[in-house]
This record gives sequence, C-alpha cells and structure tokens, in this order.
Amino acid sequence: MAYHTLLGFQKEPFSTSPDPQFFYLTKEHDMAMTSILIETRLRRGLAVVLGDIGTGKTTLSRKLVQELKDRGNIIFHIILNPDFETEEQFLTSLLRNFNVDFPQGQPGAVDILELRDAVEKFLIQKNEEKQTITLIIDEAQKLDMVTLEVLRVLLNFETNEYKLIQLVLLGQLELYSKLVAMPNFIDRVSFKYTLNPLDIQETRELIKYRINQAGYQGRMELFNDEAMSEIYNYSRGYPRHITMLCHKTLKELILQNKEVVDRQIVLDVLSKENQGWGRAESFRRISKSM
Ligand SMILES: Nc1ncnc2c1ncn2[C@@H]1O[C@H](COP(=O)(O)OP(=O)(O)OP(=O)(O)O)[C@@H](O)[C@H]1O
Ligand SMILES: [Mg+2]
Repeated sequence: MAYHTLLGFQKEPFSTSPDPQFFYLTKEHDMAMTSILIETRLRRGLAVVLGDIGTGKTTLSRKLVQELKDRGNIIFHIILNPDFETEEQFLTSLLRNFNVDFPQGQPGAVDILELRDAVEKFLIQKNEEKQTITLIIDEAQKLDMVTLEVLRVLLNFETNEYKLIQLVLLGQLELYSKLVAMPNFIDRVSFKYTLNPLDIQETRELIKYRINQAGYQGRMELFNDEAMSEIYNYSRGYPRHITMLCHKTLKELILQNKEVVDRQIVLDVLSKENQGWGRAESFRRISKSM
C-alpha cells in the first residue's frame, strides 16, 4: 500500500511534481501571478520572474497556464526547455505550437525571412481577431543570445497601444546576467519580480495547505510546531527542500510507527541523509585512490 494511503491521505501530499493543485499562494507567488495576469491583459509585452533553484518558478508557470485557460481570448504556449540551436529551429517550433501553416522545406532550406513573415502575419491576424498571444518560457536562463534576439524582435511588433506578443520568462538568477548584457532587451521588461524563499510562517502554511489538498483525514495535526520549525531551519524556506523533507519525514513516521511528526523525526531523517551522503563520499575517496 502506498505510504500516503497508510497515513490517511487520498493523494501523495509532498510529491515534487509542479502540480497546480498543490500550489500554495504565498504573498510572493500571489504578487507575481496577479501582476503577470494584469500585464498580459494590458498587453504590456515582457514579464520576467527570477528565482533561485527550487523557489517555485515551474509550479507558478503551471498555475499561470491554468489561469490563462480559464480566460477567453488568450492563445498561449509554454516552452519548458528552451534549448534551440538556431533561429530557424525556434521560429519553426513557435509556428508549429501555435498551429500556424508555414512554409516548410528540407531542414536548412527554409527561408528565414519567410518564417519571420509567417510569425508576424500570425500575430497581426490574431490581434485583429482580438486574441492575445502569450508565450511562456520556463528555464529561461537557458535561452541563448540568438533566441533572445529573436524574442526582442518579436517584442518590436506593436501597435500604438500594445505589443502583439506577450512574453513571460521564468528563470534562475543567471537569466538576469544574460539580460543585463542585452540593454535593448532589458529595457523592454514591463514587469520584473524575484521569488524569494518563504518565511517560517509561510513554510508552516505551505505544509498545512498541501496536507489538506491531499485529502488528509486524520484527527491530529500531522506535523507539530517544533517539527515545522526544524523543517524551516533546514530548508531555509526553499519550497523544493520543504517538500522533499516533508515527504521523507512521513516515510520515517511510518517506519517508526508513530502518529505525529515531531522534531526528533525530522532530525532522524536529516541524520540518515547525512549518513547517505557520507557513504557516497567514502566510495568516492576509495574509487579515487584505486
Ligand atoms: N507555492 C508553492 N506551493 C506549494 N508547493 C510549492 C510551491 N512552490 C514550489 N513548490 C514545490 O516546490 C518544488 C519545487 O518547485 P519548482 O519545481 O516550481 O521550482 P523551480 O523554481 O522551478 O526550480 P528550478 O529552479 O530547479 O527549476 C515542487 O515540488 C513544488 O511542488
Ligand atoms: Mg523549474
């Protein structure tokens, strides 16, 4: 039987997948989300969300997609891993994903001007039809200069009042250095936001929220206050660390045949973690000396 069923959950509460159902709207996530939606509606062009590893960018992007789906007149596409090698590859993938008919030929034989033209025509036509085209790019720190330059050109398509394409870039902090190196790109950013780790209160709330969302039916609080403080101390409020640690503590709870996660259980998990890496370290030393 799955561990979460044993504990009285309907679903796994601390899975690491970016499921919008488990997205807890912290002040920061809320601020980023609401502002992006406003910017998109006003068709201001370019929103950038930066955040350290595991602060919730991908989860936020999935939630955003869910919100956009519920709104009429928005056509959107999300790129999860933007590792395009050429402008042709990027434009071709854009046209394909927005279901646009475009001139196709042998790889390398398509005229780049025709591709650009097809994108521009598509944007103009959809705007005439009062549709907002939104492109969301996760892992945007991986964008290379060529693709960033194409995006900059796309942002040049505009009417007197608004941009014809809405871009939302979400990326780790090195995205910032890439953008700084392109002053004519960074100048076009209409909304920027940096996601920070959670504070202790939000860490507690996130844990409780995920437990509820997973349909917990137990009578008692599953994590006591001290356990949650310890989880905060270790995770420093980084959602991925919180989630992973909570997952492990619940497994430990079952192993120890207890009902409530207390501080000791969290410490036991952390010490097992250290031992685990300790063994890897000694293997590394042995294999190096061989
Ligand atoms: N607001 C939130 N509410 C609930 N869980 C969250 C929230 N933000 C992040 N998480 C959880 O934290 C984990 C990491 O989140 P996510 O993958 O979105 O981070 P990321 O910023 O995209 O990381 P990376 O920089 O590695 O791409 C996931 O398990 C996700 O479910
Ligand atoms: Mg991510």
